[in-house]
Amino acid sequence: MDRYLSPEQAKRFYDRLGSRQDWQGFYENPAINELVAHAAFDSARSVFEFGCGTGSLAARLLQHLLPADARYVGLDISDTMVSLAQERLKPWSDRAHIRQSDGSPRILEPDRSFDRFVSTYVFDLLAPDFIDQLLSEAHRVLLPGGKLCLVSMTFGTSAFSRAVCWGWQPLWRLRPGIVGGCHPIELSGYLRSEWWKPNHQTKVTSWGISSEVLIASARKMEDSADN
Ligand SMILES: C[S@@+](CC[C@H](N)C(=O)[O-])C[C@H]1O[C@@H](n2cnc3c(N)ncnc32)[C@H](O)[C@@H]1O
Repeated sequence: MDRYLSPEQAKRFYDRLGSRQDWQGFYENPAINELVAHAAFDSARSVFEFGCGTGSLAARLLQHLLPADARYVGLDISDTMVSLAQERLKPWSDRAHIRQSDGSPRILEPDRSFDRFVSTYVFDLLAPDFIDQLLSEAHRVLLPGGKLCLVSMTFGTSAFSRAVCWGWQPLWRLRPGIVGGCHPIELSGYLRSEWWKPNHQTKVTSWGISSEVLIASARKMEDSADN
C-alpha cells in the first residue's frame, strides 16, 4: 500500500477536518513562532503560501507583521480550507488572495514574483517526488535572495519525542489517513545546495512532537539567462 495520500485523499481528509486544523496549534505554534521570528516578514513585499489551511498564519502576517502594502497569495487543495481562508482574509481582500490548487506541485505564478515562499506542516504529507517538484517551483517563483520558509514535523529530539515518533511511524505506514498523511521528515535533506543557501535551521519540540524550522535564501542560478 502507498503510504502517501494521493491529492484526492488529502483533499477529502482536509475537507472533513476544516476548522479543526487549528486545534493542532498546541504543538504547531511554538515552531511557527520560531519561523516568524527569523523570516523577516517586516521587510517582505510579496508572500506565497502553499497549503494555507484555514488562513491562520496569513491573518497573523497581514495583521501584525507584513508592511501595509505587501501582498499575499495562498494556495490549498481543500474547498473547505479555501472557503475558511477566504472568509478569514476578507479584511485584506485588496491584497490577499486564496486560490484552489489542482493537487499538482505547479504554481501558476510568474517567475521571480515573490520574496517569501511559506509552507507549514504540508511537506510532511507530500511524497518525495512531489517535494522535489514543489521546491523547483518555489525556486522559480522566488526572487533571487527571496526566502523559503518551511516548518514540518520531524524526528524526535528527546527521549519522549523519539518515543512519540516511534509510535507515530507504524500508524502512518499502516493507516496514513488516520494522521492526515503527516509523518516525520528531514526537510534539509531536500534542499539542493546549488539552489538554496540555508539561513536558519532548528528543531522545536512541543507536547512530544518535534518540528523542523528551515529558512533558506534562493540562490541566483549561475546559468540563468540574465547572469
Ligand atoms: C496539516 S494542514 C496545514 C495547514 C496550515 N499550513 C497550518 O500550518 O495550519 C495541510 C494543508 O495542506 C493542504 N494540502 C494537502 N495537499 C495539498 C496539495 N497537494 N496542494 C495544496 N494543498 C495541499 C491541505 O488541504 C491542508 O490545508
